[in-house]
Amino acid sequence: MKILGIETSCDETAAAIYDEEKGLLSNVVSSQIEIHKEWGGVFPELAAREHTKNILPVLDKAVKDAGIKLSDIDAVAFTAAPGLIVSLVIGVSAAKALAFALDKPLVPVHHIEAHIFATFLEKKVDFPFLALVVSGGHTELYIINAFEDYKYLGGTLDDAVGEAYDKVARMLGLGYPGGPIIDKLSTKGVCSLELPRPLLKGKPEHKYNFSFSGLKAAVLRETEKNKYKPEDVAKSFQEAVVDVLVNKTLEAAKEYNVKNIVVAGGVSANKRLREVLTKEAKKLGINAVFPSLYLCTDNAAMVAYTGFLRFKKGKTVGYDFQPHARIRMDRFVKLLSVPN
Ligand code: KG4
Ligand code: ZN
Repeated sequence: MKILGIETSCDETAAAIYDEEKGLLSNVVSSQIEIHKEWGGVFPELAAREHTKNILPVLDKAVKDAGIKLSDIDAVAFTAAPGLIVSLVIGVSAAKALAFALDKPLVPVHHIEAHIFATFLEKKVDFPFLALVVSGGHTELYIINAFEDYKYLGGTLDDAVGEAYDKVARMLGLGYPGGPIIDKLSTKGVCSLELPRPLLKGKPEHKYNFSFSGLKAAVLRETEKNKYKPEDVAKSFQEAVVDVLVNKTLEAAKEYNVKNIVVAGGVSANKRLREVLTKEAKKLGINAVFPSLYLCTDNAAMVAYTGFLRFKKGKTVGYDFQPHARIRMDRFVKLLSVPN
């Protein structure tokens, strides 16, 4: 069985083909980073225009790289939620057009679910496991009991962690996307700023919630004093972020007695997070699993694979399906609970 995956939820136009027997046959990503750089973040209208320009060339390359004919695919999987609606609709429309022309089923995938199950392309992880999702739009903790059985533990009350990285990088005039730049710069710095660890201790209802906008504001206040080197700001910010993420994740892993933690989303590429979480989890006999870097940031391999898992359960949607800009992963799968 071969599944085509399409991803256009933000600023990457991507297509990939997953084969049940042979694994990933192709994985094409067209990045718009250069276009959004001057805005310091993703500019929705430009993103939509670029998706429109790139979607067919990317699809064409994915099919050619796979060495198959388009008609060989068994289903079209696509990112159905969440994301920038103007970006999502391009991928959804392309998926529908292909499904219609080829008379193949349409399989919707949640972007966060895809980030989590991307790990399985390299290594199967035993259920239940804890998922820490850290990206430009999300910071969430879930217990994954099985595919499509998700328990939400908490999430950010304001900025996502990747968004905080991007905003701090913009404040320091470092460029976009901020995460990799801060990650690299911080290796040259010392932790000289006193920064808060938001929601690390406090109300029980926020045990697994996050907040990064106060931390971002604290960085701004400190940098306005002009006393610190950018590398020291980067290091101090990154240590505060990693401290919060690692502590909350391990607390949840202990409470729910899981032996595996899957870290997913763009920020899972962060070197310091990888190092500290792996080390601290190991002390508790817990395994922290991080996908390879090409699977951390947005791609369609994760969509094709998650679409494959969903298609095997017989879940497809009709031509009238609409994407959702904001919907939690556990709620999204409930909408699909009755096979078509
Ligand atoms: O998952 P992703 O590619 O797109 C979304 O779904 O949001 O994540 C993009 C985010 C950006 O905010 C980027 O700055 C961040 O991931 N990121 C990183 C690193 N690499 C990418 N953040 C921290 N450290 C990194 N090495
Ligand atoms: Zn993503």
